[in-house]
Amino acid sequence: MESYIESVDFFKGNNPEEIAQKYGTPLYVYNEDIIRDRMRKVANVITKYPYRANYSIKANSNMSILKMALEEGVNCDAMSEGEIKMLLKAGFPTEQIFFVSNNIDAKEMQFAIDNDIMISLDSLDQLRLFGSINRGGKCAVRLNPGVGAGHHEKVVTAGKKTKFAIQEDDVDEIFAIAKEYDLTICGINQHVGSLFMDPAPFLAAVDNFLRLAKRFPDLEFIDFGGGYGIPYHKLNDEKDFDMKGFSEELTKKLDKFVEEYGKAPLFKSEPGRFCVAEGSVILGRVNAIKNNADKTYVGTDVGMNVLVRPSMYDSWHDIEIISNGKVVKGQDKEVTVAGNICESGDLLCKDRMLAKVTDNDLICVLDTGAYGYSMCYPYNCRMRPAEVLVCSDGSVKLIRRRETFEDLVSYFPE
Ligand code: LLP
Repeated sequence: MESYIESVDFFKGNNPEEIAQKYGTPLYVYNEDIIRDRMRKVANVITKYPYRANYSIKANSNMSILKMALEEGVNCDAMSEGEIKMLLKAGFPTEQIFFVSNNIDAKEMQFAIDNDIMISLDSLDQLRLFGSINRGGKCAVRLNPGVGAGHHEKVVTAGKKTKFAIQEDDVDEIFAIAKEYDLTICGINQHVGSLFMDPAPFLAAVDNFLRLAKRFPDLEFIDFGGGYGIPYHKLNDEKDFDMKGFSEELTKKLDKFVEEYGKAPLFKSEPGRFCVAEGSVILGRVNAIKNNADKTYVGTDVGMNVLVRPSMYDSWHDIEIISNGKVVKGQDKEVTVAGNICESGDLLCKDRMLAKVTDNDLICVLDTGAYGYSMCYPYNCRMRPAEVLVCSDGSVKLIRRRETFEDLVSYFPE
């Protein structure tokens, strides 16, 4: 496809140049329709059995997006006390929050217990700690299904090389600890990793996970984790994740499990990226173009502090060029797009064919809704950007103001 933003009318008739001028750049721009559509899709992955999707808010915890999840009937998973507090503030009832914890201290655990939030423990030590502060309590455990998947080794969270979850060999010890502290293990969860387009490894993990599940006789829920991919190469016609085919394959596995287990617990999943990635772009300004040796560098204000994924994982994000409010079509020449941060690795893409770009144009970086703003940081004292939402009715509203210098200095004691 030549232009994603045109094909979905991302700005809903608004002129991106006007949006950029009004709110400044770099700017995260979200599209409400797309986010709600993806949330509805994940809410229906399993229809035959009791099922709930938990939106994984580490992907994006903007309050307006959390409220959309609440309205769309999607539950949420949280990774920290901060994420739990964000969900409570958005209006989520405690029973709709699942705390998938990792290496937390007794204070953070106590916070979840005091707020009646279901918690998953991901090591024997953490399960013991939970037992010692909440004897007779109820919790879930995170199991390693033995198979991992993901777009980069840094986001694979199961298999042999990961800090996460309890390995199969230790399952007997889970029961011993539960007995010692009179705990009820009412749920199990897994997460194979982030971003798979081919569901095969995930489904293999499901087989192992459900085999382990049978060792737990009284499960109220089984949570398969997240990881559903999105087409980051959409300008090259990469296809969407086949949610329908995936859901059919998964349901077949559940049929077999439910028959053998004798009942259907509540099934859950934890998609983050799928819900929000495609519902956001970043608008950035082209401030300089130059040739260094044999490369052309397009210098912009979208630094690695605004979007860290390309420099952290070598991730690909499609880029469109907007000149005077109009998308520039075609391919002009190979360029490297850089940000304004003092790091040689501060590159959004390397040696990529882009449309003709000139000073003062806008770059529009696609698929930035997941792990975009949530991983921003004020390196070089560059403030975190603003976020705006293109609402379903076509209006544009600010959903997070730009960070200011005063915000940064407010952390220092007088
Ligand atoms: N559940 C658990 C326990 C997780 O650890 C994660 C992601 C998810 C659910 C959601 O996964 P998703 O559906 O979004 O793939 N920063 C990386 C991704 C890190 C994912 C961490 N865990 C990136 O930008 O690709």
